[in-house]
Amino acid sequence: MSFAARLDDAARTVGVHLDATLAAFPEGPITDAMRYAAAGGKRLRGFLVLETAALHDVAQRDALPAAAAIEALHAYSLVHDDLPCMDDDALRRGQPTVHVKWDEATAVLVGDALQTVAFQLVTEGGLPAERKLALSATLAQASGADGMVYGQALDIAAETAAQPLDLDGIAALQAKKTGALIEWSACAGPVMAGADTAPLMTYARALGRAFQIVDDVLDVEGDAAATGKAVGKDADAGKATYVSLLGLDGAKSRARELVDEACAALSPYGPRADTLRDCARFVITRDR
Ligand code: IPE
Ligand code: IPE
Ligand code: MG
Ligand code: MG
Ligand code: MG
Repeated sequence: MSFAARLDDAARTVGVHLDATLAAFPEGPITDAMRYAAAGGKRLRGFLVLETAALHDVAQRDALPAAAAIEALHAYSLVHDDLPCMDDDALRRGQPTVHVKWDEATAVLVGDALQTVAFQLVTEGGLPAERKLALSATLAQASGADGMVYGQALDIAAETAAQPLDLDGIAALQAKKTGALIEWSACAGPVMAGADTAPLMTYARALGRAFQIVDDVLDVEGDAAATGKAVGKDADAGKATYVSLLGLDGAKSRARELVDEACAALSPYGPRADTLRDCARFVITRDR
């Protein structure tokens, strides 16, 4: 199976589980908008959960709630990221953003509710209770005030800072903003199996950095029809990115080095990790 087909397959499976979870909530605008916000996307984080679980012989049905959880949490981060007080975006995954289609109050509440459903999901399913506890504690770390939220705060602060960030500053910001959830996703497999997370943590650190560099590259040279979101936003907002500091070629070559680093970290797994190597290559060749 090609990597694209594997990713599509995982996306479908995760989407079905998310929909089934949301079907239990009362009908109304919040549940409708949650379903809307949780739909679509590449599902890369959910894919990483399923793939690293399989690598540790965790059954897919046991890994699926965690894969759905990270996609719900990621969807929440996007709904809030797009709000007028954050990036002020009108297009996401090729559709109007939640605050445009509904209103800002709905978007805030939908984000809140997608976040709590993520923590509900990691408690569900057949894994041993202590493994689910570990997933929950690490998800809180990765998403909160020392994780994604911290990165988002640094990102917003950098827009108005007197001094633009240097490369180390950008790397630190991106490690939190984007890296933390990707790291959680890639480490979920060994966490579920009670195995060593070190090789996949090294993989994910490099992968997360490459992923955000490419997000920044696509903001410059991507097109909205493929990415499903407005482009040219970072320069307009005066955001310091790898592209603003290194130029497009410099940023792309840094992303390629990071993919090599990510793949090298998988050596303890041998050829069983080839799909994760394909995933790293996908991250820097994607157009969406
Ligand atoms: C976009 O993430 C936000 C970032 C962290 C850069 P994705 O590019 O994974 O978005 P979807 O889920 O595919 O829409
Ligand atoms: C958003 O980064 C990261 C999170 C939502 C945590 P960006 O602001 O660069 O993501 P896009 O470009 O809007 O998807
Ligand atoms: Mg943002
Ligand atoms: Mg944004
Ligand atoms: Mg971006």
